[in-house]
Amino acid sequence: MEGVLKPSDRRLNAITRLVPRCACAADVGTDHGKIGVQLLLSGRCDRVIFSDISAPSLEKAKQLVITKGVADRAMFCVADGLEGLPQQADCIVIAGMGGLNIRDIIIRGREPAGNARLVLQPNTEHAGLRRYLSENGFHICDERVAREGDRFYVIICAESGGSRLDECELLAGPILLKSKDAEVRDYFRCKLETAEKLIREVENAGALENASALIREREIWKKALSE
Ligand SMILES: C[S@@+](CC[C@H](N)C(=O)[O-])C[C@H]1O[C@@H](n2cnc3c(N)ncnc32)[C@H](O)[C@@H]1O
Repeated sequence: MEGVLKPSDRRLNAITRLVPRCACAADVGTDHGKIGVQLLLSGRCDRVIFSDISAPSLEKAKQLVITKGVADRAMFCVADGLEGLPQQADCIVIAGMGGLNIRDIIIRGREPAGNARLVLQPNTEHAGLRRYLSENGFHICDERVAREGDRFYVIICAESGGSRLDECELLAGPILLKSKDAEVRDYFRCKLETAEKLIREVENAGALENASALIREREIWKKALSE
């Protein structure tokens, strides 16, 4: 059956490919519904729970589900995060939100999450999200970078299990650090350039004493590129 994603939807394609074949997935913060619909059309998931805190957003997902003829395998709920999902999912996707919003959804929804695999795509605060996972009984089992034009998207997969991450792993990602993938190297290069630009701006403003965190970040991105 024809999918709902184009090859140029590199972020959404990368997210759906990280969902394992399973009976039930949840697409939390579904909005347009493309992630969940792709999971159903591709046959990766038998059923998908589409949820969003916003009823109008969920309505968009419903329309797509109906148009694509997969309504018999879809469940819908207006819910804040994982609270109120109608059943436990084997895999939970939370994508396209700030990292700290994703972290807070996981904190509030530890029980309904159970032992589900988490596929997370934070737009910001990757280190803060990894820190929470690492300090709260999750193991980061996979990470990818998807590039769309000059934007890089990081996807983090986590499962139950412990693993403490060091400062470098928190910022750059434990799996990404081991990757030789060209897109990952480009992502590190882009982060290094951004840190260098910000340091120059702080220097020009004569406030270098405020730049210690940025200087440390620059060292980490350099180290990531040298490995
Ligand atoms: C930018 S859209 C992302 C849509 C899709 N997941 C993607 O990655 O393209 C973010 C969606 O998350 C929803 N959202 C934000 N906070 C939420 C929460 N606490 N619980 C459920 N949905 C939430 C918003 O209503 C919005 O529809």
